[in-house]
Amino acid sequence: MMNATARIMLSGFTNLSEVEPQPISITKQTIFQENTAFENFLFTLAHQQPEQAIRLLNEWIETLPSYDGTTDGSDVVLPGVKAPIDIPSHWAEKPVHFIPNGFANPKAPRLIYIVRNQYFFCQEQNLREWLWKVHGTKSPQRILDIGCGTGTTTFVYGELFPNADVIGIDLSAPLIRFCRDWKAQRGASKVFFYQENAEVTHWTDNSFDIVHFTYVLHEMPQENARKILQEMYRLLKPGGTFSAMEVMYDETAQEREARVSRSRAAEPFLEEYMHLNLPVAIGDTGFKYIKRHYDCKFPSSDGMFLTALKPNTRE
Ligand SMILES: C[S@@+](CC[C@H](N)C(=O)[O-])C[C@H]1O[C@@H](n2cnc3c(N)ncnc32)[C@H](O)[C@@H]1O
Repeated sequence: MMNATARIMLSGFTNLSEVEPQPISITKQTIFQENTAFENFLFTLAHQQPEQAIRLLNEWIETLPSYDGTTDGSDVVLPGVKAPIDIPSHWAEKPVHFIPNGFANPKAPRLIYIVRNQYFFCQEQNLREWLWKVHGTKSPQRILDIGCGTGTTTFVYGELFPNADVIGIDLSAPLIRFCRDWKAQRGASKVFFYQENAEVTHWTDNSFDIVHFTYVLHEMPQENARKILQEMYRLLKPGGTFSAMEVMYDETAQEREARVSRSRAAEPFLEEYMHLNLPVAIGDTGFKYIKRHYDCKFPSSDGMFLTALKPNTRE
């Protein structure tokens, strides 16, 4: 898969120069294994030589197991919900992270799964620590994780609060199927996954004690992000907690512009996200006591951890 040109191009990178990894075949039986050398290499390459990485990625993704199901997604929607659900147009039209056909690609789950070992914010031990620090004193009965991806945050919630029902939702039917397989492997009996559009879900008002997302709103137009915040407000019980980890909203316009231009190729909506100004947008939605807990400095992906409360009555 990696030709001579690719190797020559890589030879200039000190941390990659010794490496000539070959892809290892991944099946549904081996899909939860740790990252292979090739996958780590591909990830580093994406930051250093995106065009080269995209070419390799397009070849490699074709070899990965496909998470297909019914064509309308009726195997992954909530019981009683009519499939297919409405999918926002931006999600399919402007794929993020260089993924061919984006999160809808049935072969994308392994690619998304391996990222959790790369970024600080999606490593389980960090999530466990941060989520416990902000929620550890609570006894939630129902928790919603929006844009759950491969489910890492959802499973961490399930482990921290074993008595709660924890629900992960995502637009991607293939990712929901992957999450369900991972659930079976982890034995997480009170964690559930459904294909839902977080802008318009099927739960009644005030259904959850905690509503959360990890790195979701930076991947969509402002209008869609605001709809998700409104829906989170509707779903949260009065007195319940909103929490989110997201791309850092830097203090100065100059820093924000620099961040946008660094990530533009992989993050087509980052500029819109900066205009949203997430901490302010959370307040616009009606949430109170907005708190910025952690600013996690990490090369290429600094993040912030935010919480807010839904007041008992709208003031
Ligand atoms: C960067 S991934 C983050 C996944 C996961 N939270 C994590 O931290 O690994 C963003 C996820 O949000 C999902 N998403 C985007 N818009 C959504 C929407 N309107 N409703 C539900 N999920 C959405 C995408 O399909 C994708 O899986």
